[in-house]
Amino acid sequence: MIGIENKFNKSTQVKRYRDIKFLVGALMVLGAFPLVASAQETAAYFKQNCYSCHTIGGGRLVGPDLKDVSNRKDRDWLVRFILNPQAMIDRGDPYAKQILEEARGVVMPPVAGLSRDRADQILDFIEVESALEKSQFEGMKFSDRPFTPADVALGHALFTGREKFKKGGPPCISCHTVRGLTLLGGGRLGVDLTKVSERIGGRKPLSAWLVSPATVTMQPVFRNNPLDAEEILPLVAYFEDAAKQSGDDDSVAPLAFFLMGLAGMVLVLGLFDVIWKNRFRGVRRPLVAGGEMRTSI
Ligand code: HEC
Ligand code: HEC
Repeated sequence: MIGIENKFNKSTQVKRYRDIKFLVGALMVLGAFPLVASAQETAAYFKQNCYSCHTIGGGRLVGPDLKDVSNRKDRDWLVRFILNPQAMIDRGDPYAKQILEEARGVVMPPVAGLSRDRADQILDFIEVESALEKSQFEGMKFSDRPFTPADVALGHALFTGREKFKKGGPPCISCHTVRGLTLLGGGRLGVDLTKVSERIGGRKPLSAWLVSPATVTMQPVFRNNPLDAEEILPLVAYFEDAAKQSGDDDSVAPLAFFLMGLAGMVLVLGLFDVIWKNRFRGVRRPLVAGGEMRTSI
């Protein structure tokens, strides 16, 4: 009897133990889930907002390589810098000035949707990635084959919108100009991109930059319809060619504008002449007529 009871007890104990183990396991998985999700989210955020200018262990792009950045400055400084790079530079912080010089004067733009907590999460994430032998953000791979005239021509067509972007992004010309583009040039909202490759640091940094353009104006426009590698290569080829063509000659576009302005002025003056002549007549006649009428009363 006793033996049987014991056996029964033992089996329920084992079952209970298994239940508890299952429960603990489930809780651990559930507990870890938000952590995993947030690491993934941070990685996605980094990819969208930082990776176009920073690698982790892959060398500098527009901005410095962020591997082991936590060894260069303390956490509080880094958070404050990420939240407002320009303010740190304006304050005359010597280290901020030094990294600005190393970036050849390109200031890190303010990044959309950043908070103190998020900056902290990103820095934690960079520490974890820095400790790995090979970070997933070691750098994008781009072809480095020499550019051909066909690349330049395709880049020009993409820039002007004659060739459509596969994902449907708007043509660059709607906001940017490049010297020698057309007599009038392109849009004036964005900067002149003639020397952009040099400014951003060359072919590789510019290519990475274009994967997810991290500026206030361009990010919302290109986030959902990014450029692909087959489009970035010809665009960079076109910019490098335009820079070479333009040399140091800045005078072409302004001269064209001046001449067009002059022609426009002559046209407008001529037009005014016609309009005013009619107006004078138009006003004078009824006046004269009215005068005549009055005198006749
Ligand atoms: C458009 C390019 C660009 C983007 C996008 C960008 N940065 Fe930067 N970042 C720079 C540049 C350039 C510097 C060097 C300082 C300067 O010139 O303003 C810099 C400096 C830094 C530094 C200091 C590095 C050091 O060596 O001490 C940190 C940290 C940093 N960036 C983090 C980030 C994070 C995090 C993001 C994304 C949320 C980001 N950056 C997005 C361009 C960028
Ligand atoms: C909706 C307007 C708009 C479109 C379309 C646009 N850009 Fe921009 N871009 C801007 C603005 C504005 C800036 C300046 C930074 C800012 O205020 O966002 C800029 C900055 C840039 C820069 C950085 C220049 C620098 O010196 O820092 C590059 C490179 C660039 N654009 C390339 C392109 C390319 C290539 C295309 C076409 C695929 C394109 N842009 C399409 C508005 C646009």
